[in-house]
Amino acid sequence: MRAPVADQVRLLTRLGFQEQLQLVYTDPPFFSGKVQRADAGEFMDRWATLPSYLEFIRAYIVSILPLISPSGFFVLHCDYHASHYIKVLGDSIFGYENFRNEIIWHYTGRRQPADLHINRKHDVLLVWARSSASRMHAVSEPWDREHYLRMKRQQLQVDEDGREWVWGHKGRGQSHAYRIYVDEAVAQGRAIDSVWDMPIIGISAKERTGYPTQKPRALLNRVVELFTAPGQWVADFMAGSGTAGEAAWSQGRPVYLGDLNPDAVAITRRRMARISQ
Ligand SMILES: C[S@@+](CC[C@H](N)C(=O)[O-])C[C@H]1O[C@@H](n2cnc3c(N)ncnc32)[C@H](O)[C@@H]1O
Repeated sequence: MRAPVADQVRLLTRLGFQEQLQLVYTDPPFFSGKVQRADAGEFMDRWATLPSYLEFIRAYIVSILPLISPSGFFVLHCDYHASHYIKVLGDSIFGYENFRNEIIWHYTGRRQPADLHINRKHDVLLVWARSSASRMHAVSEPWDREHYLRMKRQQLQVDEDGREWVWGHKGRGQSHAYRIYVDEAVAQGRAIDSVWDMPIIGISAKERTGYPTQKPRALLNRVVELFTAPGQWVADFMAGSGTAGEAAWSQGRPVYLGDLNPDAVAITRRRMARISQ
């Protein structure tokens, strides 16, 4: 839908979406003080004052709150410009106890020496649960035998059939509690933590739409996988080029997308049409 958030919320409320959304992902303007421009569009990120920006974020969160499922999640993507203020704000709405994670998306890119601040190469995803009933889904990343053994820092054992294993421990005084077979541990992958190393979208990447501040598909794939199960609703009310929508729909999640910017809506429509065929 092409409309500001307030109208989008009215529409979803009329359609009966109260408490239906499992995940609301939001990547709003970051308080960068710039007009964000790229080949295929632009959007304003200039604010009179920090309090006026924070009021925009506060009013936004309060308006979408009734749409989130009691076991759902809200993920707010931001950066150093205002993440620390938004954390405090979000806690005052969701409750401090419902704050689940600060995820750091760490990306690479050109680094330069500077004497004002070091290279800023991460964004922050703040995650609140709607209640203590909200549950994430296991996500792991692949690793290999060498990496696993380096992490374990243990004498490698070999059983009578030639299979490699190391000791698993069950806490203090029980360091030799059971065998972990290396091939099984490697096949299971490594549970993710709260720092995600993922590249930004390359200049000539196929997924690049030309919309400013487009986020990588891999990042949104992981967000969708972590916070929702197939069939659960995902929404992005400031969808930009529609990355969250593409990630959700292609992983079997129904999705609602909106933005007030006509360029954003046109790009999102094209993107979604391509994967819906
Ligand atoms: C950072 S961009 C989103 C980028 C997106 N995640 C992507 O991967 O392309 C922020 C978007 O918020 C939209 N926006 C800002 N204020 C809005 C409002 N009040 N209602 C709806 N959309 C808004 C802008 O038009 C812009 O497209």
